[in-house]
Amino acid sequence: MAKAVIDLRSDTVTLPTPEMRRAIAEAELGDDVYGEDPSVLRLEAMAAERMGKEAALLVTSGTQGNLVGILSHTQRGDEVIVGDQSHILNYEVAGCAMVGGIQLRAVPNVDGMLNPADVQAAIRSADVHQPRTGAVCIENTHNRNGGAVLDAAQTHAIAAVAHAADIPVHLDGARIFNAAVALGVDVRTLTAEADSVTFCLSKGLAAPVGSLLCGTKSYIQIARKYRKILGGGMRQAGIIAAAGIVALNTMVDRLAEDHANARFLAEGLAELPGINLNPEKVCTDIVIFDVTAPQGATALIASFRERGLLCGQAGPNRIRMVTHYGIERADVERALQIARDVLVGTPVGAR
Ligand SMILES: Cc1ncc(COP(=O)(O)O)c(C=O)c1O
Repeated sequence: MAKAVIDLRSDTVTLPTPEMRRAIAEAELGDDVYGEDPSVLRLEAMAAERMGKEAALLVTSGTQGNLVGILSHTQRGDEVIVGDQSHILNYEVAGCAMVGGIQLRAVPNVDGMLNPADVQAAIRSADVHQPRTGAVCIENTHNRNGGAVLDAAQTHAIAAVAHAADIPVHLDGARIFNAAVALGVDVRTLTAEADSVTFCLSKGLAAPVGSLLCGTKSYIQIARKYRKILGGGMRQAGIIAAAGIVALNTMVDRLAEDHANARFLAEGLAELPGINLNPEKVCTDIVIFDVTAPQGATALIASFRERGLLCGQAGPNRIRMVTHYGIERADVERALQIARDVLVGTPVGAR
């Protein structure tokens, strides 16, 4: 049965599974700042192995993972190349500038991808007037580009340009498992050429808190200090890690269900007047569409909300809906019915 309120604002609204709640209650704990929390150590080892890296560090959030990740590659006064639609540039509160004295340099994102030639052109020379290019960041899946996926060849194209100039690549892989599931590949094929990767437990994987930053042992040692500076040294963090372990063990493969629901949602929405959306481009859990209806996105979102459908605004006339654990096909059908009622009107007698 469809729920009273269908919350498609984000996959971050997911609640922990019963197995996660049990694992949290029973977690073996210690002081993680002393490196003595067995659950954290286990999760970090699992994360490193899954990403094909030497080591991993539990951080509080994707934002902290990206910031610690970038700080650990750079020095004050460096410049970091990012996509103009990237989460790091648009939604991470200028943390790089504020905390790290780092300037971000944006190059265009097209369908989540950066053009290697643009990245090449943005790399600074040794000229005394220029900042040093400290890192190149990519994002997979790409949030603002409707959950677009970068495949291994696309990642390689960017990494090749960066590495040729001796510049490390940081992968914001908040939803990297969505990308791997959508492509049907081992996640390591997508992380192999990144020097560091952040992924999130608290999005589609439904754990309550936490992200992992992964890289070489020496890099993670540096990152551990930056995490402490940012107040991210947590003590009995095993209560977080325990849920993360369950997330990695049980919640990855089911992301395919979210992707199928997102495509079904996109196909239904694309048939409605006032919505401009190509469902073929929806390959993970995020559906973003332009609103051409005269009432505009803000009023449309309010009308959906009145009827029990929550979604997010992704731009002046753009709406975002995200499928996730806890959203069943019946909920998506109900969401489509609400959108139809608002955009087409309820037929007389159908109430
Ligand atoms: C691509 C991407 N990176 C990073 C983050 C930040 O994650 P958090 O909300 O855990 O800070 C998000 C959050 O939605 C995201 O979509």
